[in-house]
Order: sequence, then structure tokens, then C-alpha cells
Amino acid sequence: MKNFTTLQWKGDIDGCLELTDQRKLPAQFITIQCKTPEQLFDAIKTLAVRGAPAIGVAAAFGICLAAQQLDKSKLSDAVRRIEQQADFLSKSRPTAVNLFWALERMKKTAHDFAAENPGAAIDDLRQCLLTEARKIYAQDVQMCHNIGINGEEFVPVGGSVLTHCNAGALATAGDGTALAPIFEAQRKGKKFKVYVDETRPLLQGARLTAWELQQAGIDTTLICDNMAGALMKDGKINAVFVGADRIAANGDAANKIGTYSISVLAKEHKIPFYVAAPSSTFDLKLQNGSQIPIEQRPAEEIACFMNVQIAPPNVNVYNPAFDVTPAENITAIITEKGVIRCPTEEKIRQIIV
Ligand code: MRU
Repeated sequence: MKNFTTLQWKGDIDGCLELTDQRKLPAQFITIQCKTPEQLFDAIKTLAVRGAPAIGVAAAFGICLAAQQLDKSKLSDAVRRIEQQADFLSKSRPTAVNLFWALERMKKTAHDFAAENPGAAIDDLRQCLLTEARKIYAQDVQMCHNIGINGEEFVPVGGSVLTHCNAGALATAGDGTALAPIFEAQRKGKKFKVYVDETRPLLQGARLTAWELQQAGIDTTLICDNMAGALMKDGKINAVFVGADRIAANGDAANKIGTYSISVLAKEHKIPFYVAAPSSTFDLKLQNGSQIPIEQRPAEEIACFMNVQIAPPNVNVYNPAFDVTPAENITAIITEKGVIRCPTEEKIRQIIV
């Protein structure tokens, strides 16, 4: 289905990370190459690469870039340096837990390698890290595939679904999370329609999701965020599919700002509300959503539109990038390991370990 690559490692241990620059889509399709952790940090912060799983996979390769900068020092010093660079990359964005999940995994890989191979060369450590990052990439592709299979049954035949932000192929190494069941339903020949929220302020819905769905030949209609309630009232929406950036142990789920409002509207109109996310998006250390750190983004993202100032200069702006949908508003969480209906901590812990 996917006819572009969101991110890919080019070459061997001395290679680089190539990203489709999502800041430019859909007007321009261009790729950029990250050759240092600093370049990748900037790419994540400015949303050249975005979406929780894609950020995690990119960060894993970021550790391979960090490994290129190691000199011929002792292995233990190299591991310390890798940990410092992981710490640096972890500060690029705070909400998507996949970033921290992938960096922890890469740090552990470096640590275990050094412990098990005390006399190894730095190039061997680099090779080991690249192998692990490639594994994280491949697992993400597989997780998306399985989310698609597990969630396809919830795409209503002859009906319409609503989605918010972009939780498609551009947000992952594979087919996406929220969009994976939609792509799978399309593959199976189901007829349905997708309404896409534009997703202010950065328009991930209008720019990215509408672009992806159109390319896949799916019946797609773009709406402004504030239209969702009216469409629901008119009976035009039969299900909502969204992704997540972090899911707490009790099932509360952080996702793009505006998701919470849609969940309230869906509940009011008795429309099923599905969150699709891989196990790497769960943060079982957090008891509930109030503990999820919410990223605050620059004022210009709201005060300007497509680089044109639309608000009075110096107006106060509040710009949280995410909100938290309480578990009780979620009909089911679709994961690669199975579907968690009416999520509770007990049910989540049975599936996600
Ligand atoms: O700020 P963004 O574009 O990174 O926000 C992305 C989202 O909110 C997605 O819905 C979420 O990361 C899930 S992506 C599979």
C-alpha cells in the first residue's frame, strides 16, 4: 500500500538516516538526510519526522549516528557516551513514550554488548547497535500490520469513520496505527468513507492523512476540526479511529490536541471510539493520564497560519500539542497483540507486558 518511505537507514554502520520531510507535504515530496544526532534532534523537534512510532524508530537510528562519533576509546567510555547522546535525543519531544522506549532499548543493547564482549572493537558495537535499530524498525512494521488485521472488523461496511491528526504510514515505519485497519479494510474490498479532521494548528490531518488516504484510493473527505460534532449529530460518522502518543496503565490515552473533544462527542452520540496503538506506546509506569507530560509548542504555530501572522502581535497563546482521553471514553484499544475492549488496568496488563 505504502508507496513512499517515511524513514530509512541508508548504508552500513557509516550510513545516515533518510527522512521524508513531513513539514513540506503535500506540496513537496522531498527527503532529508540526518548525519548527526543534532540533525535528528532538530528533525524530531520541528516535525520533519513525527508520529509516536516513527519518532521511536528514528531515535533508535539516532543512536547509530551517535555511535559514528565515538573515537577509539574504551568500550565502557563508549557506552557512557551513547547514554549521554540518548539523553540528549530524549529531550527532543516529551509526550510520545515510543521515543524513550526506543532509546532505553538502544542503551541496554550498548550496555549488554559491552558487558558480554569486553575486548570488542568500537565497530563491533556500532554493528550491534545498527542491528538492534533495524530490528526496532522491522518490529514496528509488523506491529502496524497486526493492528490492521486486529482492527479491520471495526471499519463499518458502507459506513463512515472519522480520524484525527495523522496516525498513518507517515507516523510509523509501517502502514500506521489508526489508519492500518482502514488500509486493511480497503485491501479486503470493503466500501466505506473516511472523514479527516484538518487538525489545527499544524494540519497533520489535511496535509498528511488526506494525502495518504487519497493515494490509497480511499473515499476521503476533509473537514475542519469544529465540524465533527455536527456530522455526528447528522448520523454521518459510524466510528472514530485515532492513534496515541502514550497510554497509561489505566487506559487513559494521550493523542493530538482535539482528540479528547472528539471522544466526548462520540460518547454523547453513542459512536464507538477506537484508539489504535502498538505495545511500545503503553507506559505502564504511569497510573493514569494526568501523569503524562504534555508538550507545549511555540505560540507562532497558532498565531500564524502558513507563515502569515493571523492574530494581533503579542497576543497570549496557549498551545498544548496533546490532550488525554480518559479510558471510559474509549470503546477499545486496538494493539498488535489483541483488542482491549472497555480498557481497564487489569485487561491492559493481561495483554501488554
Ligand atoms: O505532533 P505529532 O504530529 O507527532 O502528533 C502525532 C499524533 O498525535 C498521532 O496521532 C500519534 O503520534 C499516533 S501516530 C501512529
